[in-house]
Amino acid sequence: MTSRIPFLDLGRFSDDVKKDLVQKFKQILNKGIFSGSDEVFLLEKQLGEYLGAPYVVSCANGTDALEIALRAMEIGIGDEVIVPAMSWVSTAEVVHLVGAKPVYVDTDGDGLLDLKLLDRAYTPMTKAIIPVHLYGKMVDMDPLMLWARSHNCKVIEDAAQAFGAFQERISAGMYGDIGCFSFYPSKNLGALGEAGAMVCKDASVAEKLKMLINHGQIHRDQHIMIGRNSRIDTLQAGFLNIMLPYFDDWQSKRKLLAQIYKSQLGDLNWLKLPNDLKSTSHSIHLFVIKTVFRDQLKAFLHENHIDTAIHYPLPIPYLKPYKVTCEFPKSLKISKEILSLPLNPWLSEEEVLRICEVIKKFKV
Ligand SMILES: Cc1ncc(COP(=O)(O)O)c(C=O)c1O
Repeated sequence: MTSRIPFLDLGRFSDDVKKDLVQKFKQILNKGIFSGSDEVFLLEKQLGEYLGAPYVVSCANGTDALEIALRAMEIGIGDEVIVPAMSWVSTAEVVHLVGAKPVYVDTDGDGLLDLKLLDRAYTPMTKAIIPVHLYGKMVDMDPLMLWARSHNCKVIEDAAQAFGAFQERISAGMYGDIGCFSFYPSKNLGALGEAGAMVCKDASVAEKLKMLINHGQIHRDQHIMIGRNSRIDTLQAGFLNIMLPYFDDWQSKRKLLAQIYKSQLGDLNWLKLPNDLKSTSHSIHLFVIKTVFRDQLKAFLHENHIDTAIHYPLPIPYLKPYKVTCEFPKSLKISKEILSLPLNPWLSEEEVLRICEVIKKFKV
């Protein structure tokens, strides 16, 4: 019987990685320190070096990172924040959580915030913009920053899907005032549970972020603002310290597999493949194809034992709690056509070839 190709199976970590993770768990268990500690300092140091970030503040998850970044920028009631219509729900959720109003902007052909629509979205209440590097592809950050600065807007980059993407040698997350990462297990750099981080270039912003994740404390029991508990778990920091040295090899494998998809599927005229995958400004978090036959193709792949996913079936402003009166035709069209094919470092080249063979057999 043909074996199923999962969309992502994290049980497939190599034996080396598994051994290192078990070792790290034992070390931390024996030390008996499960909050803070040198694992967290080491993670922040290593992330800073990898990303070229002078300041890294780790936290509990990517959603918290975005919300805390908004709080650090003092965005709140009465403010508007520009967000793309197409993203994971966290991007807009956090704007509501701080009491501000998300103003949605339709996306371009790649699902990224369409910079040409920013002027239309702007009002005197606009205080920030959250560009999302969706699927790992970076938004064109130079023009976005120019626009934001000329409109006196803070920029909080949602780089949750873009760890490992660099534009002009600048990492995703390092253009704006604060960059936010998620280390959710399915991300390119994923923990074994929930984790996230914020990066910035300004020491005073970093101090504020540190206080916000730790009950507003400047030192133990000195609470100088209202914060919360969003500290990273020591175990997750320890696991991420194990994963980071493997990251570049994992990225190379992603690029290799993406190349196989491109060369095998490039001639199918009913299918649109993602672009810019070779460029450094794409982390290839997801391999998202587009076709008007999306639902039929998904079902056909499923029948042939291949799992796929949809990121995302509805743009945020079409979800019930986020409903607005405007229309976002491009995002809506994309949401009906997109299909994420399996792409991760634990897939074999043979599996990707098998997926391509099945797609080639699909009758349109
Ligand atoms: C674009 C985007 N923003 C924010 C998040 C939130 O990250 P987390 O799941 O770690 O809270 C995610 C993660 O799924 C994401 O993909």
